[in-house]
Amino acid sequence: MTLAITLHVLAAVVWVGGMFFAYMALRPAAAAVLEPPLRLTLWSKVFSLFFPWVWVSIFALFGSGYWMVIYIFGGFAQVGTYVHIMHGLAIIMLLVFLHVYYAPYKRLKQFVADKNFPEAGKKLAQIRVLIAINLCLGLLILIIVNVGQRLF
Ligand code: HEM
Repeated sequence: MTLAITLHVLAAVVWVGGMFFAYMALRPAAAAVLEPPLRLTLWSKVFSLFFPWVWVSIFALFGSGYWMVIYIFGGFAQVGTYVHIMHGLAIIMLLVFLHVYYAPYKRLKQFVADKNFPEAGKKLAQIRVLIAINLCLGLLILIIVNVGQRLF
């Protein structure tokens, strides 16, 4: 349990914390000081370095999560409501990330490589909205799990 929960929390910190930094600090800073060609190239590079860590986090979160549910708690029938909510929200986050990765991010990379910055800007705008959604869901999970562990 100790290893699984440690892995679980580290993965949550990497994914949710990474989104918080990107959205709350890097995004406004890049928008304030960089012209579109440089800004879009920066984001394409940032995502290419951050998204592999998101994949690792996803495997660690789901792997350790299911492992705890099955081997520690004895199945989904035995876990608290907050674990069901965490599970449901995590699946939504996964689907949102899969969409970002295989749709707008893939095109952002291509448009940046082609130096088509107006189109790349549209893809970045889509990614920004989707990452805002996932950031809210991630923070919500952290609130629900902490409240849930104490109250229900
Ligand atoms: C983005 C996705 C997720 C985040 C941010 C997240 C976050 C957390 C956090 C912060 C904890 C509390 C750790 C502690 O007690 O110190 C936790 C516990 C747990 N999570 Fe997740 N989790 C996610 C996905 C999942 C998934 C997919 C499952 C699979 C069902 C899962 C199952 C569990 C279980 C079983 C516990 C232990 C609950 C307990 O000890 O009462 N989590 N999670």
